[in-house]
Amino acid sequence: MTNRVCSILGIEKPIIQGPMVYLTDAKLVAAVSNAGGMGSLGPHAGQTDSTKDPIERAERLRTQIQQVKELTDKPFSVNVLPSQNHEDDDRYTPPQLEVIFEEGVPAVTFVGEPNRSMVRMFGEFKQRGIKIVYRSLNPTPENTRAAEEAGADIVVATGFDEGGTLPIMTLGTFSIVPLIKDAVKDIPVMAAGGIADRRAVDATLALGAEGVYCGTVFLMSQECRMAENVKQALLGATARDLLLFRTMPAYYRSYPGDLARELVSMDKAGATNEELGAKMGGFENLRIGMLEGDMDKGYVSVGNGITHIHEIKPIKQIIDDLTAHLNATD
Ligand SMILES: Cc1cc2nc3c(=O)[nH]c(=O)nc-3n(C[C@H](O)[C@H](O)[C@H](O)COP(=O)(O)O)c2cc1C
Repeated sequence: MTNRVCSILGIEKPIIQGPMVYLTDAKLVAAVSNAGGMGSLGPHAGQTDSTKDPIERAERLRTQIQQVKELTDKPFSVNVLPSQNHEDDDRYTPPQLEVIFEEGVPAVTFVGEPNRSMVRMFGEFKQRGIKIVYRSLNPTPENTRAAEEAGADIVVATGFDEGGTLPIMTLGTFSIVPLIKDAVKDIPVMAAGGIADRRAVDATLALGAEGVYCGTVFLMSQECRMAENVKQALLGATARDLLLFRTMPAYYRSYPGDLARELVSMDKAGATNEELGAKMGGFENLRIGMLEGDMDKGYVSVGNGITHIHEIKPIKQIIDDLTAHLNATD
């Protein structure tokens, strides 16, 4: 199938692997791109610890980008996630952008709210021919229109069924995709949240999406560096097993473990979102839960699509299973 998403990004199948911090690395991203989709490196891609040094962080990203380029000649992207609270004092994004420009990265998966620095960055991407896939954590018609106006090439509509940081508005994927589709003037919309089999792909296309943006389905791949014991535990899990709790900025869900159960108890006892966020421990406890496989000390984030994943497959098979049937209809 080829459509506007494919021609904008120069890919064969309208599917993007959403960035997922430590769980992404050059191997995963290149495998997605080689299979005809577009892979995306997340923050701390390929790392086993975090560094607070902005230059070292950017150089670690450079190493991953160079490895992707060794493994594929197909388009790939890098997650740009500027600090929303310190627009004028964001130490990490400028050196990261330098690396993205110097290494000739073809596309970015940009997450943030429209503001002055986003408009400036979009201008710099456009000047260099870098394609912009825009995703708000809290998609609305207003931020969608602003992103399109600022130069986004594609916009992602993410529903509450997703894995990772959940939106403030609890609209499911079924509700958010047509809302965002009706908000854009001229650019394609991709759907995200809970998409893990071809039925979901078909449903989102019927709702007006022109492609899918998936995380969880790629965690459950042979190439993903998520801990083997976590993959095996998740094979037996459904969306009904996942624990939902408030945190910063709004909600999160996790496979059950000591930390996740404690977060649910704190939530029920009336803790503030700030207290819950501090207890949750940011990406570090995600790393401990999902990369190191300690599901009690850390947490394990997946979307509701986990119900429909019954096998750890190679990336190529995952992408073929999600999209191969579309060939017949184009
Ligand atoms: C474990 C995990 C980590 C994530 N980390 C990031 C991230 O670093 N940056 C980002 O923009 N989105 C992140 N996301 C969101 C994904 O890119 C994607 O939008 C989401 O997984 C789609 O929903 P799905 O998991 O139901 O397919 C993460 C999602 C998961 C499950």
